[in-house]
Amino acid sequence: MRLYCLGIVVEQTNTVQETISDTLVDIEREAFREIESVEAIEAMERLATKYIGRKGILTAFLRNITQLPVDERPSAGKNANLLKVRLEAAFNELKSRLESATEDSGSLIDITLPGRVPARGTLHPVTKISREIISIFSRIGFEIAEGPEVETDYYNFEALNIPKYHPARDMQDTFYVSENIVLRTHTSPTQPRIMEKVKPPVRIIAPGKVYRCDSDVTHTPMFHQVEGLMVDHNVSFGDLKGTLSTFINQLFDDDIALRFRPSFFPFTEPSAEVDIECVMCRGEGCRVCSRTGWLEVLGAGMVHPAVFENVGYDTDEYTGFAFGMGIERLAMLKYGIDDLRKFFENDMRFLRQF
Ligand code: PHE
Repeated sequence: MRLYCLGIVVEQTNTVQETISDTLVDIEREAFREIESVEAIEAMERLATKYIGRKGILTAFLRNITQLPVDERPSAGKNANLLKVRLEAAFNELKSRLESATEDSGSLIDITLPGRVPARGTLHPVTKISREIISIFSRIGFEIAEGPEVETDYYNFEALNIPKYHPARDMQDTFYVSENIVLRTHTSPTQPRIMEKVKPPVRIIAPGKVYRCDSDVTHTPMFHQVEGLMVDHNVSFGDLKGTLSTFINQLFDDDIALRFRPSFFPFTEPSAEVDIECVMCRGEGCRVCSRTGWLEVLGAGMVHPAVFENVGYDTDEYTGFAFGMGIERLAMLKYGIDDLRKFFENDMRFLRQF
């Protein structure tokens, strides 16, 4: 004979009576074994549901009693109900024990201990100095512009008067994405992008990431630049000088001498490389300025007429200046950081200082 109980087929070897009481004994033993190991209220509640819940093991047993021979039902029902009462009592007892344990541990909290201060993040030095640069230029009327980091060959080179195969392309080690797409090697492509969209007067600065296939102690494949561009009637080289010296003096909070050296960029004419008096030694000569007393910080010049023509500006009417500088370089000078790699290592001890 087979007995269907708890959804399990129990092979009948002894009498029905014995099998049923065996099953109940098994349930009881298993339930109390589990109760012993419970340590949290949630676990206790799960256990109560498992045995005496609506779909619990004991509940299922009671429901299946109708499948037993008629004369076995009363005692099986009685025993099962008695077990249910015992289990209910055990769960209640366990519950109040667990609840009072929780309250006890509450009293272990020492409310006189000082609170834990939430950790605050700091700005990366590159972010910090970028914001400072932006704020200085916006005070003198410049607006912020942005351009894509994945740039077309046209804006990165051609529009800036650097034709294909021009030797000036060698000045920048370019990452090519495909034949006509590059990672921008400088922020200068924002110049033609802006000028195509707006008519003069233009006064913008464009900070952002640039990429060059170059990596050593003083070069990283990605770094940051800020581009500046001003176009209007009668903009002169004197305006460029005045703007840059105002900027440098404000950034370093000091009166710092500037030096313009003739240079070459295909998109400016005349072009200059701009040095500032060494902020470490004040022109005396030190390790940072290689004993020259000067630090090269930016490239600049008057916008080349060919660039204006590419964007449809009238070269008889307008002139303009442009400049570009490396942000990490300025941050190193301003914060006295001696190694470019520190910007990219993300050592918390370094970053927390800012
Ligand atoms: N784009 C130049 C560079 O990356 C800098 C520059 C910008 C020079 C604007 C002149 C005018 O070296």
